[in-house]
Amino acid sequence: MEYVTLRNQLKMPILGLGVFQIPDKKECQESVYQAIKNGYRLIDTAASYMNEDAVGNAVRQAIEDGICTREELFITSKLWVQDMRTYEDARQGIENSLKKSGLDYFDLYLLHQAMGDYFAAWRAMEDAYKEGKLKAIGVSNFYPNILTNFCEIVEIKPMVNQVELHPYYTQELALQTMKDYDVVPEAWAPLGGGRYHPFENEMLKEIACKYKKTVGQVLLRWNMQRGVVVIPKSTHVERIIENINVFDFTLNDEEMKKIASLDMGYSGSRTKHFEPDFVRMCVNRKIHD
Ligand SMILES: NC(=O)c1ccc[n+]([C@@H]2O[C@H](COP(=O)([O-])OP(=O)(O)OC[C@H]3O[C@@H](n4cnc5c(N)ncnc54)[C@H](OP(=O)(O)O)[C@@H]3O)[C@@H](O)[C@H]2O)c1
Repeated sequence: MEYVTLRNQLKMPILGLGVFQIPDKKECQESVYQAIKNGYRLIDTAASYMNEDAVGNAVRQAIEDGICTREELFITSKLWVQDMRTYEDARQGIENSLKKSGLDYFDLYLLHQAMGDYFAAWRAMEDAYKEGKLKAIGVSNFYPNILTNFCEIVEIKPMVNQVELHPYYTQELALQTMKDYDVVPEAWAPLGGGRYHPFENEMLKEIACKYKKTVGQVLLRWNMQRGVVVIPKSTHVERIIENINVFDFTLNDEEMKKIASLDMGYSGSRTKHFEPDFVRMCVNRKIHD
């Protein structure tokens, strides 16, 4: 495993497993367990994925089986918008995540969206960070203008920003803004999230063939070589293994540029952060009473 270093000197694995859209607890637990068994050390969940408990169970199972120690793992979760209305809501939301997962601390905890009163929520995150319940704190889906304003205002700047990043949405300005504020970029949907048809792309297939790799591995490698942490999701053990097998080849500059030329300049995802309907849906989505 390779690592990036966060501003507070914490080491974060550059590759992990994402567990979005794995509502089945057994399936989630098994995927996380298999990932850890096969060398993953970073797991990315969220309160809104409703599977923090399954992640916690897999972590305990892996530790009990002697596969790794808690200190070797890097567990991320995220605060949902419902818990971002007030400072007190956010404090409670963080406690709920810890309780659900059964973990004493998270290695990284993120504000899931730049919605609600995210400044009040951030102050709760800063306090939980100072108390050691969160070893690092960050944000997600903070676009360049929002991230800039946020970093100029807050006491502790976010250490990570998790946004959509893949060759079809390269987000160069987002990466530059993160660099300016020493925020580590983390890619959601690094394989395209089931959209964009990368696996049928001839250029990607040709590059993959050259290195005797798969298109999925090329996509992950491309982001990692840009300094981006990747968290591909899979519930299939053969793909979980395939996706971590990306440390034995390097794309050259020409290939990096060719892949980046797929950029559409906009997101094709279902999450439309600039659309009022999407924001309203998030703000009103309840994940608990
Ligand atoms: N912060 C946010 O707002 C946000 C939003 C979206 C996602 N995320 C995080 O980012 C993680 C990854 O994003 P994502 O799940 O949307 O998309 P993704 O990882 O880019 O793609 C996942 C899809 O690709 C398939 N897949 C996995 N490995 C493959 C391979 N080697 N070859 C071909 N297909 C493969 C998976 O299917 P199988 O499972 O059937 O293998 C699944 O359908 C999430 O799990 C979550 O942790 C965060």
